[in-house]
Amino acid sequence: MSNKLFSSIDMGGQTLGNRMVMAPLTRNRAPDCIANALMAEYYGQRSAAGLIISEGTQISEQAVGYPATPGIYSQQQVDGWSQVTDTVHAKGGHIFAQLWHCGRISHPDFHAGELPVAPSAIKPAGDAFTYEGLKPFVTPRTLEASEIPGIIEQYRHAAACAGNAGFDGVEIHAANGYLIDQFIRDGSNRRTDHYGGSLENRIRLLLEIVDAVGSEIGHNKVGVRISPINAFNDMSDSDPQSTFDHIASSLSGLGLAYLHVVEVSMTGETDSNFDTGRLRDRFDSLYIANGGYDGERAQQAIASNTADLIAFGAPFLANPDLPERLRTGAPLNTADQSTFYGGDAHGYTDYPSL
Ligand code: PHB
Repeated sequence: MSNKLFSSIDMGGQTLGNRMVMAPLTRNRAPDCIANALMAEYYGQRSAAGLIISEGTQISEQAVGYPATPGIYSQQQVDGWSQVTDTVHAKGGHIFAQLWHCGRISHPDFHAGELPVAPSAIKPAGDAFTYEGLKPFVTPRTLEASEIPGIIEQYRHAAACAGNAGFDGVEIHAANGYLIDQFIRDGSNRRTDHYGGSLENRIRLLLEIVDAVGSEIGHNKVGVRISPINAFNDMSDSDPQSTFDHIASSLSGLGLAYLHVVEVSMTGETDSNFDTGRLRDRFDSLYIANGGYDGERAQQAIASNTADLIAFGAPFLANPDLPERLRTGAPLNTADQSTFYGGDAHGYTDYPSL
C-alpha cells in the first residue's frame, strides 16, 4: 500500500504537509459569534492536518442560523479569528475559513423577528436550533433579484475579512442545504428570474460568488464544498448527477484550490445512482473527498487517485493527532456526540493525544 496519504501536496501554491483535511465542524462555542481563545486551542491541537477547514462561519448577520456560531464580517470577529490562525500557523498548519450563509435554515429569533431569506418561499421540514431550543422552521422570504448583488458583496467582504484574520484561504459552503445549495437544487428553487429554472440559472449565484471571492483574495485560495446526494435540511433535486456534473465542469478552469465533495448523506449512506468519479473527472484542480472515510479507505482512495485529499469530521474531532494515529495504526478515540454542539472545553479540547 502506498503511503501517499502522508505525503505533501501543492494546493494553489501552498504546500500542505499531508493529504488529511480536518472537515468543517459546527461546535457552537463562539458566544456573541466571536472566535475565542478556547477555539484557538482546539484548532491548534489539530494543526497536524494538512489543511484545517473552519466550522461554518457567517458572512453577515443575515447569514446566521444557529446559536453561538462564529462570524467573519466585523473587526471583533477578525480579531477573534486571528488568535486561531496565529496558533495554527505557529504549529506549521494551514487553515481555510468556511464562508456560510444559512438562508432558510434559520429562524426569526436570529433576525430581530424578520424572516430568514431564501431563493423561494418554501418552508423546510424540521426545526431550527435557537437559543430557546428547537422551533419549527418558518416559510422564508424570497430574495428579490435586486438583493442578490448585496449577498455576493457579503461574501466578498467576508473573504476580505478572512484574509485580514490570517486565513490561508476560504471555502465557499455550497453544501448541506444552506443558501447556495438552496439555489442549486430544484426542490428549493422555484424562481423564474435568471437565478432559477435552468441549470445555468440555478448555479449562477455560486459562480458569481466564486468570481467575487476569487477576485478579492485570489482564486488559488478558494475552495468549494458541495453535497450532491445529501437530503439533510429537506433538500432534493430532480437530477443530481446532471446538476453536479455541470457544477464540477463550471468550476473547472478557474484556478481554484479545490472541490470538496460530501459523498454521502448525513447518515453516511452512498447512492448507487450517483457517480462521484464524474465530478473528479470534470474538475481540473484538487478533489477532496469526505464521508465516512477511515485510514484504510483514505489510503486506498489516494493510492487509486480517486481523490487528492480526504476530509475527516468526527475522527478529527475526537483525535487531535489523527494523522499520527493513522500513520502508526494506533487506536482512535471515539467521538462523544453529546458534546458536539455547544458546551465548554469538555468534549472539545480534552480529547487525548497519544
Ligand atoms: C449542523 O450544525 O448540524 C451542520 C452545520 C453545517 C453543515 C452541516 C451540519 O454543513
